[in-house]
Amino acid sequence: MSAARLLPGGPVAEAILAEVAEGVVGLRAAGVTPALATVLVGDDQASAGYIRIKQRQAAKLGFASPHVRLPASASQADLHAVLADFDTDQDVHGVLLQYPIPGGLDYDRALQTLEPDSDVDGMHPVNMGRLALGLPGPLPCTPAAIEALLAYHGVSVAGREVVVLGRGATLGRPLAMLLAQRRPTADAAVTVVHTGVADWPRYTRRAEILVAAAGVPGIVRPEHVRPGAVVVGGGVRYAGRRLLPDVDPSCGRVAGAITPRVGGVGPVTVAMLFRNALRAARSAVGVVEQS
Ligand SMILES: NC(=O)c1ccc[n+]([C@@H]2O[C@H](COP(=O)([O-])OP(=O)(O)OC[C@H]3O[C@@H](n4cnc5c(N)ncnc54)[C@H](OP(=O)(O)O)[C@@H]3O)[C@@H](O)[C@H]2O)c1
Repeated sequence: MSAARLLPGGPVAEAILAEVAEGVVGLRAAGVTPALATVLVGDDQASAGYIRIKQRQAAKLGFASPHVRLPASASQADLHAVLADFDTDQDVHGVLLQYPIPGGLDYDRALQTLEPDSDVDGMHPVNMGRLALGLPGPLPCTPAAIEALLAYHGVSVAGREVVVLGRGATLGRPLAMLLAQRRPTADAAVTVVHTGVADWPRYTRRAEILVAAAGVPGIVRPEHVRPGAVVVGGGVRYAGRRLLPDVDPSCGRVAGAITPRVGGVGPVTVAMLFRNALRAARSAVGVVEQS
């Protein structure tokens, strides 16, 4: 039984996508069809599923979504060539390389061949650098989703202690940078814990807001949560199609508010991808963004 208020991602995603849809209408009226290109390498079922979700969303929003699927046997040079084709295509504004890619290929090296402004995932080193320096650029989608989810549900983080469990490049590290920025929806006192902090529960137990970003199923249990705290489940692992979250559902007995097991951060992450893609398209045609 959960006593905690639920913080669903669905309505947050809808609000972001409604804004994106409005932006698309404006661009199309000006004769520009925003385009988000996707590249999938290999036969991973989950990845193919994610691509389908993104393509369906692209169609709903009025984006073009050119797609290339490379076989698992593709070389690093094949992958770079496909990315370069999209990157130099004037009609393509954002490029997404679906993670993960087969073991023999180097994801980071491929990502680095992209123009930073086309990197809708916000993971290019230049975009990480922009985030660290507070410069404009595409934000990493899941950290941006968590900031938006908290703001939408009226959870203020400004001046409060946020503890992030995990310092990974996708989630924990960029989230810590984002929430420590000077901004009304950020401005937090952020602590990051990881395997180098053996007694990490000491920190999570004092957190007003706890974000799980470890990718270790069930790692966050009720005894790690301060009573009444806000708990955000960012980390997940998949066993086939089954989603195994970092946050044990029993944390709902202790938390004051908590993201649901399914439908929390995930849908907002997808919405952020399209927000980045819209911004890429607007900037390619010379529309200056305010934030
Ligand atoms: N919800 C979404 O839409 C979404 C989107 C993207 C990613 N994710 C999820 O976010 C998670 C994090 O991704 P990432 O790429 O940033 O992570 P990552 O690189 O795998 O890093 C995981 C982090 O968790 C820490 N950790 C692991 N086990 C731990 C333990 N037993 N005790 C303390 N710390 C531990 C690691 O510590 P060390 O650094 O010391 O090894 C590391 O910092 C993944 O589960 C991923 O699936 C979710």
